[in-house]
Amino acid sequence: MAASSSLQGSPSNASRHQFVGATCSSYSDIFRSVSFSSHLPDFSLKSLENTKPIQTQRITAVVRPVSCYKQMEVDISLSPRVNSVKPSKTVAITDQARSLLEAGVPVIGLAVGEPDFDTPAVIAEAGINAIREGYTRYTPNAGTLELRKAICHKLKEENGISYTPDQILVSNGAKQSVLQAMVAICSPGDEVIIPAPYWVSYPEIARLADATPVILSTNISENFLLDPELLESKITDKSRVLILCSPSNPTGSVYPRKLLEKIAQIVARHPRLLVLCDEIYEHIIYAPATHTSFASLPGMWERTLTVNGFSKAFAMTGWRLGYLAAPKHFTTACGKIQSQLTSGASSISQKAGVAALGMGYAGGEAVSTMVKAFKERRDYLIESFGELDGVKMSEPQGAFYLFLDFSSYYGMEVEGFGMIKDSESLCRYLLEKAQVALVPGDAFGDDRCVRISYATSLSTLRAAMDKIKKALISLRPAVPV
Ligand SMILES: Cc1ncc(COP(=O)(O)O)c(C=O)c1O
Repeated sequence: MAASSSLQGSPSNASRHQFVGATCSSYSDIFRSVSFSSHLPDFSLKSLENTKPIQTQRITAVVRPVSCYKQMEVDISLSPRVNSVKPSKTVAITDQARSLLEAGVPVIGLAVGEPDFDTPAVIAEAGINAIREGYTRYTPNAGTLELRKAICHKLKEENGISYTPDQILVSNGAKQSVLQAMVAICSPGDEVIIPAPYWVSYPEIARLADATPVILSTNISENFLLDPELLESKITDKSRVLILCSPSNPTGSVYPRKLLEKIAQIVARHPRLLVLCDEIYEHIIYAPATHTSFASLPGMWERTLTVNGFSKAFAMTGWRLGYLAAPKHFTTACGKIQSQLTSGASSISQKAGVAALGMGYAGGEAVSTMVKAFKERRDYLIESFGELDGVKMSEPQGAFYLFLDFSSYYGMEVEGFGMIKDSESLCRYLLEKAQVALVPGDAFGDDRCVRISYATSLSTLRAAMDKIKKALISLRPAVPV
């Protein structure tokens, strides 16, 4: 049996020597016996005192394949780049909830950022037809001309921005589009300005691009929207990118046009500053809120990289399809990276993407039906949380998340559980006591809050609310609000 071991590669355990015990039946098993996981404890590792470090900041594993070879040294250190990146808490909490479910605990998962609807039939059919018709080969790196033309048409009609197909780069999901854009435009030492609460990946992607995230706090009383004066005060010579996400994950806030115009005036005074606008939730928006594309504002087209995708509005998370729209020198640079990473997105998904954009303005009937359901759930949750003492909220105008301030519950001691001291312990408490999985706000840069995804049925939300209320009512807010 090959013992699979795990090792945490954080800087704090750099320079350590680790022992990875393994037995093997073949030479290749030796290598397979070393594995990594940030979730598992390193229960099978022992330090090996008499092994010298190969180099400082390196971790040497000594693999002992018991049956066939003598001990051998392997340098298993990870790059500082990887060590600087935090694993996603959304994924961690989802994994924890899944383990509980597997153990028979009826956990209600409200952590995941994924629509609960099926991909609309017309899109799925286009994907199936693509396979049937043998449309299964590599596509151009930047995406098929058919899809890029359809995206240009959409951006013109719905967003009022003009692009040509060579200014569009189709990728395997919007996350890849964000990563490539940041890697293409950031140099070491550059600063990336990120309003908090933020989507968990922005700071980590900035770090992967060798840049420094500069986090700007916002307030729940101002709907978590960026204060232009604060932005202005934080811009330096090193500021390279401002990231805007509207509608926002995790807050559901939508930037009104007037505020975007103020931000644009500030940005315009700084030639080095580019803006990356993540518009992936643009169609999931609740009237009277409306979506404004930053690139459509006067003077902003040249310096804006617009990211969008199919995952959220079209319930296509598994199809992995997103895109970047930007001046050609940026899309070409990102395309160069993509050509060495993944090449073009799935041919099947691209056919499905064309069908999605053919469904009508803003996704037509199928998308508006989903948005209607999201709104109904949002309204239910707002009303229901409104009945709970000590919870502060700002009504989301889009996306499918509620970002609630539960900080008045912090500082409470719970018998048999311990202290609820922050968003993480509150989420652990709710997972244990209410069996509801939520994501701690500190993952999004605001420890006062907790994120609830309402991309699940109203009946599930009702069941979750009953349990959350019971768990919270047994506590009394420390600070009355
Ligand atoms: C704000 C935001 N941007 C981008 C993405 C990534 O989307 P995709 O599935 O297209 O990679 C997500 C997914 O959660 C998101 O919430």
